[in-house]
Amino acid sequence: MSGPLVVLVGPMGVGKSTVGELLAARLGTTYRDTDADVVAAAGKPIAEIFYDEGEEHFRALERRAVEAAVAGHTGVLALGGGAVLDAATRKLLAGRPVAYLSMDVDEAVRRVGLGAARPLLAVNPRRQWRELMDARRPLYEEVARTVVATDEHTPKRSPRRSSTHWNCRRAKRPPAWRTPA
Ligand code: S3P
Repeated sequence: MSGPLVVLVGPMGVGKSTVGELLAARLGTTYRDTDADVVAAAGKPIAEIFYDEGEEHFRALERRAVEAAVAGHTGVLALGGGAVLDAATRKLLAGRPVAYLSMDVDEAVRRVGLGAARPLLAVNPRRQWRELMDARRPLYEEVARTVVATDEHTPKRSPRRSSTHWNCRRAKRPPAWRTPA
């Protein structure tokens, strides 16, 4: 099956772009992000698409962006956190090398914070994140071939080095890989 070498799914702020870029560099391939494709197609930031045209319109743009990227991209591909809500997208991902990057709620709030760039977490990030994950966790697990728990492996940019490295100070063991039941 041609298509992306790896597809990364998971919630907002889990590190899909950071991991995706590092992975692409490591594998000597290119990185693509469907959020960036949507922004380019719409000519405005995601928050503005939500506010001006609404979530449904954003999801339609996202569905098209995912379809095009799965068909045309052969490197590492990261999907927006809500892309798996679409049944056609989930079908498109069936049998592909999909990795679900996961984290728990405390880590999510720490990483995502109150950033206005993510309209779905703008009011009460902790509660909203929990609700989103209750609905989405089974969908991530449905499409994923592997699950990577990232809680103890926050990617950080060192002020003294230009490259990103993994902050493994608290980690007792490497990121946990498991295959969903
Ligand atoms: C969303 C996640 C965002 C972006 C949009 C909606 C979601 O992408 O697509 O704000 O529904 O979870 P990231 O997961 O890259 O932040």
